[in-house]
Amino acid sequence: MKFAAVLAVLAASASANAFTIAAWSNPNYSGTQFQTSGHGTFYLSFTAKSYKWISPGNDGCCIKFCNGSRETGYRCPAYSNTNVLAINQFNKVVTGCGSTVLNC
Ligand SMILES: *[C@@H]1O[C@H](CO)[C@@H](O)[C@H](O)[C@H]1NC(C)=O
Ligand SMILES: *[C@@H]1O[C@H](CO)[C@@H](O)[C@H](O)[C@H]1NC(C)=O
Repeated sequence: MKFAAVLAVLAASASANAFTIAAWSNPNYSGTQFQTSGHGTFYLSFTAKSYKWISPGNDGCCIKFCNGSRETGYRCPAYSNTNVLAINQFNKVVTGCGSTVLNC
């Protein structure tokens, strides 16, 4: 999906108070893209080097970034990263809200 289409999807879902994670295989939001607004554990078919976590941030929803079972990051308020540090690059994300425990 092209980035413009991603934005359209994000705009459409904003009223539902939903979050979206979009991640790319290369820096600067390029290469292969993965995207979901789902809750749970999601395996990417690549190691992500850039991402956009779009979330209201006050809805109790967070994301954990993982390389396998190793946690590489954690965000609740919206955050974008054009060039994730090598040690923090990830191939799995876990999303959830409220009391949901996010485990890599
Ligand atoms: C990302 O974009 C910036 C700004 O255009 C550029 O300076 C940088 O070299 C790019 N990084 C990569 C890895 O392409
Ligand atoms: C992710 O984990 C694998 C297996 O342990 C390792 O080979 C790889 O270097 C790790 N990648 C990053 C970005 O840490």
